[in-house]
Amino acid sequence: ATNRTFTMIKPDAVENGHTGAILEKINAAGFRIVAMKKTQMTKRDAETFYAIHSERPFFGELVEFMTRGPIISAILEKDNAVEDFRTLIGATNPAEAAEGTIRKMFATSIGENAVHGSDSDENAAIEGAFHFSGREMF
Ligand code: CMP
Repeated sequence: ATNRTFTMIKPDAVENGHTGAILEKINAAGFRIVAMKKTQMTKRDAETFYAIHSERPFFGELVEFMTRGPIISAILEKDNAVEDFRTLIGATNPAEAAEGTIRKMFATSIGENAVHGSDSDENAAIEGAFHFSGREMF
């Protein structure tokens, strides 16, 4: 069925000039852009968005990283969007990501891994609503 996922091009990939190439791969894979913008998350935004990871040892590092520069956030639509997008981006750790995936091509490390992709339909809806109002979705 057609559904939606939420993504961010993270500060490392924006800094390194990979925004255009990543959007091209997303487009070529057949995702329709429902919403998209460039923003910079505040510390509070990142702590709220990643609240599920607040007890992890890397939480402070994650918040620091995600707030250090602008991101591109987007809601994407396609058949089987959540699963297909996770396939397109590859494993969290770029060292384990399959050849041709976005993280294999553009990520630096497990922390600075270029892109986010929602892990379920429910989280896609929550994460999309965190970043976008209804008037920004088309
Ligand atoms: P993502 O899966 O998009 O959301 C959680 C993020 O936490 C993950 O991407 C990584 O950026 C980060 N992360 C996960 N594991 C580690 C780790 N071991 N060290 C540092 N950052 C991590």
